[in-house]
Amino acid sequence: MDPVKVGLLGLGTVGGGTAIVLKRNAEEIARRAGRGIVIDYAANLDLSRAEELGLGNVRLTQDAFDVVNDPDIQIVVELIGGYTVARDLVLQAINNGKHVVTANKALIALHGNEIFAAAQAKGVMVAFEAAVAGGIPVIKAVREGLAANRIEWLAGIINGTSNFILTEMRDKGRSFGDVLSEAQALGYAEADPTFDVEGIDAGHKLTILSSIAFGIPLQFKQTYTEGISKITAEDVSYAAELGYRIKLLGIARRTDAGIEQRVHPTLIPQRRLIANVDGVMNAVLVKGDAVGATLYYGAGAGAEPTASAVIADLVDITRALTADPENRVPHLAFQPSQLEDTAILPIDEVETAFYLRMCALDRPGVLADVTRIMGERQISIEAFIQKEPTSGVDKVDIIMLTQRVREGNMNEAIAAIEALETICSSVTRIRVETLG
Ligand code: HSE
Repeated sequence: MDPVKVGLLGLGTVGGGTAIVLKRNAEEIARRAGRGIVIDYAANLDLSRAEELGLGNVRLTQDAFDVVNDPDIQIVVELIGGYTVARDLVLQAINNGKHVVTANKALIALHGNEIFAAAQAKGVMVAFEAAVAGGIPVIKAVREGLAANRIEWLAGIINGTSNFILTEMRDKGRSFGDVLSEAQALGYAEADPTFDVEGIDAGHKLTILSSIAFGIPLQFKQTYTEGISKITAEDVSYAAELGYRIKLLGIARRTDAGIEQRVHPTLIPQRRLIANVDGVMNAVLVKGDAVGATLYYGAGAGAEPTASAVIADLVDITRALTADPENRVPHLAFQPSQLEDTAILPIDEVETAFYLRMCALDRPGVLADVTRIMGERQISIEAFIQKEPTSGVDKVDIIMLTQRVREGNMNEAIAAIEALETICSSVTRIRVETLG
């Protein structure tokens, strides 16, 4: 059988990795797919990059629309990122009856509902394994491997750059900016690194995971996102003293009131496996009612790990080319007509435990004021540390762990504590999850 002809948009980190792995493992990939998979046409602004990647015999263009409009191309692989031109390219490819593979989490999180509806209407497939957690086949695991389960919750370290920064801060005491520059040089960080450190990239990925876990439309705008840029070396070390690690977690949980969909720095007990996922590695913990807790771990970014997911999608599409469109795996795991409109909870309604750090004047009665404010709002204190004042300074750091409380109550308590004259800084608050 003739090989499947692929059009590759973008020859950056992931595009390059995809070209290299497709070539290196061509024989084995063809044995799996049932036929060869070849790059026939590639688009990149810098055409010399194609030479570097050994794509000398591939048709090349600087205009990605040439590829999506080419009649010979059966599958378009979109690896240029962003969500304006990428959206136009993907919709045009679908309109031209081509299948699409993308690693673009922002595109799927923001425009996935529209893209899947267009694909459904045209009877083509859109595959996006590489959009979440790089090389870890977590989309496939949740969408297919756990299809028997009612998913209760999932929690993931799904931004390698943030995890790398937090790990280096903890282990080597390195500064935030220094580690971020290294992540950029290694090709892990997004084009706009605020997407990594402010939780946006993780929010895109969590939005996708939540949809396939619970069978709801993609709703990035309802996802709460908070990044790691305000985490200090003190927080990392106080958390360790209390037996916790700080990780940027994406959490999606089904509750009676609605679905929690949130990304924020989180204290996790250090005995949990996921608390020990370090550096640029990613991990996703998924709790199903039948299977219990399952953990998926691996490289969340990088050229060949992400290419691994892109090519797995190419193999899946190649195998399914002749399948009846009605019998393919649905894009969001549940049949399109079966998606539910369960509400996503505003963050004020979410219940978690909290780590609080504040600086207080070292005077009698200060703690009594703080604990009274907490008690009046039904907030129970689980653990407490007061640091010795540094010599010559009459200020102390107070660190508390609370029991679970509604976030709205905690916001009120923090506002009242910050209004006390004896509290000398804003209160740092980090949510705590036991993931038990
Ligand atoms: N910037 C992303 C990360 C790349 O650091 O995880 C992979 O999506």
